[in-house]
Amino acid sequence: MQQQKIIILDFGSQTTQLIARRLRELDTFCEILPYNKFPVGDPDVIGVILAGSPFSVYDPEAFKVDLNQFIGQLPVLGICYGAQYIAYNAGSREYGRQNLTTINMDCPLFKGFDENSQVWMSHGDTITEIPTGAQVAASTQQVKNAAYYIPSFNGGKPVFGVQFHPEVFHSVQGTLLLKNFVVDICGGRQDWSAANYIETTVRELRQQIGTDRVILGLSGGVDSSVCAVLLNRAIGSQLTCIFVDHGMLRKNEFTDVMHDYECLGLNVIGVDASEKFLSDLEGVTEPEKKRKIIGRDFIEVFNEQARKITDAKWLAQGTIYPDRIESLNITGKVIKSHHNVGGLPEEMNLSLCEPLKWLFKDEVRRVGRELGMPEHLITRHPFPGPGLAVRILGAITRDKVRKLQEADDIYIRGLREWGLYDKVWQAGVVLLSEVHSVGVMGDERTYENPVALRAVTSTDAMTADWAHLPYDFLAQVSTEIINKVKGVNRVCYDISSKPPSTIEWE
Ligand code: XMP
Repeated sequence: MQQQKIIILDFGSQTTQLIARRLRELDTFCEILPYNKFPVGDPDVIGVILAGSPFSVYDPEAFKVDLNQFIGQLPVLGICYGAQYIAYNAGSREYGRQNLTTINMDCPLFKGFDENSQVWMSHGDTITEIPTGAQVAASTQQVKNAAYYIPSFNGGKPVFGVQFHPEVFHSVQGTLLLKNFVVDICGGRQDWSAANYIETTVRELRQQIGTDRVILGLSGGVDSSVCAVLLNRAIGSQLTCIFVDHGMLRKNEFTDVMHDYECLGLNVIGVDASEKFLSDLEGVTEPEKKRKIIGRDFIEVFNEQARKITDAKWLAQGTIYPDRIESLNITGKVIKSHHNVGGLPEEMNLSLCEPLKWLFKDEVRRVGRELGMPEHLITRHPFPGPGLAVRILGAITRDKVRKLQEADDIYIRGLREWGLYDKVWQAGVVLLSEVHSVGVMGDERTYENPVALRAVTSTDAMTADWAHLPYDFLAQVSTEIINKVKGVNRVCYDISSKPPSTIEWE
């Protein structure tokens, strides 16, 4: 059966990824491509969306696409800049500036819409004259041409333009509009499911890899774990996973995660390299220096293991879609490019295999659940690669790691027991190992370290708010940490948001 897809052409708008998210929520596969990379001749494409842009169509440097590649041949939906671009390039040249909030409906795109449905307009150009052959599809009080459509472009497929953003939350019936486009107008089957994805991907992986051997670095996190289980289903014992313990993981994490992996039937080499990392980090206090040492040591340890698998042909990675999308900034330069494992020796000559590269995080979780992975692996909080090293302020020692592991364990167990773990994006404890404060324990004066508890809510870690955890919970955790963790006599709660603070303290 044809693998249907909608192409979303990216003109640099911040909300382009949101359109893709909305389409995925409709169980429809879509791909975001730079505005000038339309895949001419790809038979799987069933529709095209031209997204927004920070440019005005009048700007000399505005991104330009050759509409003749698809207009009339496939249903087209222009959103904001996309709508203006089509209007501008298909006959009309008059613009004024408006800012709007409501819309009324009229064409197939608006099937099922309520009168006065609220939509989100962004400031900028307004189409004052629609293209030749187009009809007004929706108006607002202030703007007649809030949406237009050409039922059949040059006798071919329809074209739609909307001046608002259906993909954003404030457009109340925006998802309905996208569904009308994708399902009714493009004929999308809405057949994307985790089960289908697994079936197709397993088949493709078998074809791609054949009888070769594959190496994968596991971190204990969701992406690399799901990637491993998916590969394991496809190629079984041809996959070798490497999980490095750098000595700064959470309490019992190495053994717990190794146990989980073994239960999942994965072939994992667990490497305890904590001695090496801790001795190389001795006396180092500068955060960037810590990160560099850990990064370098990690590559060294990983390579040493990888080299033993002499016939390996592939390096698998749990890269996901948001890691890869090249978003354009307004100068047209790529501001975020594909991240890659740096530093693998060239003589190993490995090809990259990234079976999750089309998925968003919540889709990775859906795939993981469908693969039967335990819930605690799937809903895990993110954890930084350098681990507790960036949560010990000052030089790292084994004793400080132990202290922090104990405090962190009390906090995370508490969050789970109080049903708060899944309500926060990420949580952890920070040890202020160079600060000492006075306390009193029984009749004794103490002079020990404080710890800070951190918990944030977020959707992507780019911005974050401190989590408003209940006082009673914080009180219980504070008492337990001070009573049980030797060397800690004070607990603080971090109430800073990102920005201006970051999630981690280092
Ligand atoms: P910040 O502290 O920059 O963190 O607000 C944002 C997210 O990234 C994680 N983080 C890291 N992850 N290596 C990683 O793999 C790192 O060096 C690193 N530093 C921060 C952090 O835990 C949060 O989820």
